[in-house]
Amino acid sequence: MIRQAKESDITRISELYCLYIEDSFFVHFGKGFLKELFKNIIISKHALCFVYEIDGKVQGFITGAFQLSKLFREMFFRKCHVWAIKVMPQIIRYPSSIKYIIESFLYSVKAHIENINSELLFIAIEPEFRKKGVASLLVDRIIKDFRNKGVSKVKVATVKNNKGVNKFLESYGAYFEREFKFYGKNMILYIIK
Ligand SMILES: CC(C)(COP(=O)(O)OP(=O)(O)OC[C@H]1O[C@@H](n2cnc3c(N)ncnc32)[C@H](O)[C@@H]1OP(=O)(O)O)[C@@H](O)C(=O)NCCC(=O)NCCS
Repeated sequence: MIRQAKESDITRISELYCLYIEDSFFVHFGKGFLKELFKNIIISKHALCFVYEIDGKVQGFITGAFQLSKLFREMFFRKCHVWAIKVMPQIIRYPSSIKYIIESFLYSVKAHIENINSELLFIAIEPEFRKKGVASLLVDRIIKDFRNKGVSKVKVATVKNNKGVNKFLESYGAYFEREFKFYGKNMILYIIK
C-alpha cells in the first residue's frame, strides 16, 4: 500500500535513508539531523512524502518538493537555532564540513532549470522489495500529486555513478538534461514530463 507519510514514519524513513542513500552528505550529520529533516518535509506544504507499507512496515519512501528554495527557507531560516544545534557537533569534529553546508545552499542554483521548480528529492526501497515495481509506483504517486497541483515537469538530480537509480530513471522515461558538480561529485539532472 502506498500512503502519505506521517510523523510516526520519521524514524523508519531516516533509517532507510541512512542504510541505502550512501552517497548523501546529510548522513554525516547523524540521525537527529535526519529526523528533523524528514519531520520538516512531512509537515511542509512545500513538500510531499509517500511511503510503501506492507504488513504494517514501511519498506520504501519517496520525497519531493514543489519549490526546494521555499522548503529550504521554511526549514532553515525559521528554525535556524534547531539546525545549528543539530549540525554543530559535526562542524566541531570536522571543520571542513562547513564547505559542504555552504554548497548545500548553492544547490538550487546548480540544479536550476528555467520554469521547472518542482523536484524529486530522495527515494529508497528496502533491497528485499526492489525490482518489483515499488519505486515506479512511488514515483507515479508523487507525480500524480504534482500534476494535481498544476505542475507539468519535475526535475531530479542523481549521483552519476549511482547506476541503479540512473537506470531506474531512464527506464521510467526521465530525460537527460545536463551534468553538474556538487559536493565534488558528478551529478546528472533529469526531467520527468
Ligand atoms: C533505485 C531504486 C529506488 C529502484 O527501486 P525499485 O523498486 O527496485 O525500482 P522498480 O522495481 O520500480 O524498477 C523499475 C525499472 O527500473 C530499472 N531498474 C531499477 N533498479 C535498477 C538497477 N539497480 N539496475 C538496473 N535497472 C534498474 C529496471 O528496468 C526496472 O524494471 P525491471 O525490474 O522490469 O527490470 C532502488 O534500487 C533503491 O532504493 N536504491 C537505493 C537508494 C538510492 O540510491 N536512491 C537514489 C538516491 S536518492
